[in-house]
Amino acid sequence: MRVLVTGATGTVGRVVTGELIRAGVEVRAMTRAPAGATLPEGAEVVGGDLGDPASLRAALAGVERMYLFPVARTAREVVAAAGEAGVRRIVVLSSGAVTGGFDTTFHLPVERAVEESGLEWTHVRPGEFAHNKVELWGPSIRAERVVRDPNPDAAWLPVHERDIADVAVAALLEDGHLGAAYDLNGPEPISLRAQVDAIAEAIGEPVRFEKVTPEEARELYLRQGGFAADNADFLLGFTDYEGNEADPHAAGDFDLSWLGPLPTAEAVTGRPARTFARWARDHADDFR
Ligand SMILES: NC(=O)c1ccc[n+]([C@@H]2O[C@H](COP(=O)([O-])OP(=O)(O)OC[C@H]3O[C@@H](n4cnc5c(N)ncnc54)[C@H](OP(=O)(O)O)[C@@H]3O)[C@@H](O)[C@H]2O)c1
Repeated sequence: MRVLVTGATGTVGRVVTGELIRAGVEVRAMTRAPAGATLPEGAEVVGGDLGDPASLRAALAGVERMYLFPVARTAREVVAAAGEAGVRRIVVLSSGAVTGGFDTTFHLPVERAVEESGLEWTHVRPGEFAHNKVELWGPSIRAERVVRDPNPDAAWLPVHERDIADVAVAALLEDGHLGAAYDLNGPEPISLRAQVDAIAEAIGEPVRFEKVTPEEARELYLRQGGFAADNADFLLGFTDYEGNEADPHAAGDFDLSWLGPLPTAEAVTGRPARTFARWARDHADDFR
């Protein structure tokens, strides 16, 4: 069986690729820039752009199952092209925001396109990636051993990308996950200050938490560029998920206990979800 992994150079897709290879599956790993791509050994690297469905012909040929990175604008055409090429099952990298009802434009259209295609489907809906902290805090921890944020006591349930990938791989390879949408969270709420402490422990050096205003943090993230700049307004509470204006000074007030226990990968894998401390140890080198 051949599986196409789109988003294969991404945080989750890279792990999905490696785990499928370990499981003995033929993996075609897709990227828009195949020339320079470093992907797990054993993957067949192929070029393709989800934003340009016509470019997917070679990537899709001879593929039975597909891990789909979410690109809403072209999802319908991409899914149709996959079906025409003989793909029978699609596992979507979606988001817990769909379950929460506040994502109607980013991941929901991709889920809908897959559901309405008549193909077998499973949606993987992670909450906040632990890996975001490499993008947000990596530069200041590496350079100055400091994190600057307005809400040290705000807690969330960051999820390890390996838990997301494990669920995606199970859904790709096993029966019993068809028509399921799996919400994935970390195993326990952990405050930003405790996350910083876990990273400090992992690198074996103290890391300071400097409380700044939301406006100062926003300025820092914008200057940092990349993921931090792209997501600063949402992450700091200046906007809601869909980009509507919000009050950043209320962002730290959210009480997670209102939500009750949230689902993790354990429901699928049978193993406890990985903790943030474990994630920090796995990524210590990203912060050194
Ligand atoms: N961060 C979070 O907290 C969070 C929470 C819930 C859900 N999510 C979802 O997860 C996604 C991020 O996943 P990730 O971290 O595994 O990826 P990532 O590290 O952000 O990398 C993005 C991947 O998507 C590929 N890609 C982007 N646009 C593409 C296109 N037009 N055609 C083909 N490939 C394309 C890139 O491939 P190339 O550049 O190699 O072509 C790369 O492999 C988010 O975009 C969001 O949809 C994120």
